[in-house]
Amino acid sequence: MTEMVLGDVRCHLFDRPGRMSEPVESAVQFQHFCFSASAAEDLVGLRRRWIELHESRRYTFAIDEQPTDIVLDDGVQSFYTYDVNGLEFEFTFVPDGLS
Ligand SMILES: [Fe+2]
Repeated sequence: MTEMVLGDVRCHLFDRPGRMSEPVESAVQFQHFCFSASAAEDLVGLRRRWIELHESRRYTFAIDEQPTDIVLDDGVQSFYTYDVNGLEFEFTFVPDGLS
């Protein structure tokens, strides 16, 4: 995994087995985008808002799944979800001192 960081935007690039493209095409593709929240409470609101939009049925989602629960990993809180195109998004909060 390679992480590119620009301000609060983090792009995570993965080389994943079993996902090769045609030989003439690039094998590089986005696995997910990661956006950093400035406060842990913001994750709760972002997740709630994502669920509200999903349940509104105003949009058709290529991957029809609700966001994950907010998980805690080495002090970092995150949840994952899919946009309407099926691209995975990660929303995360990294406390001061861990970034
Ligand atoms: Fe990530």
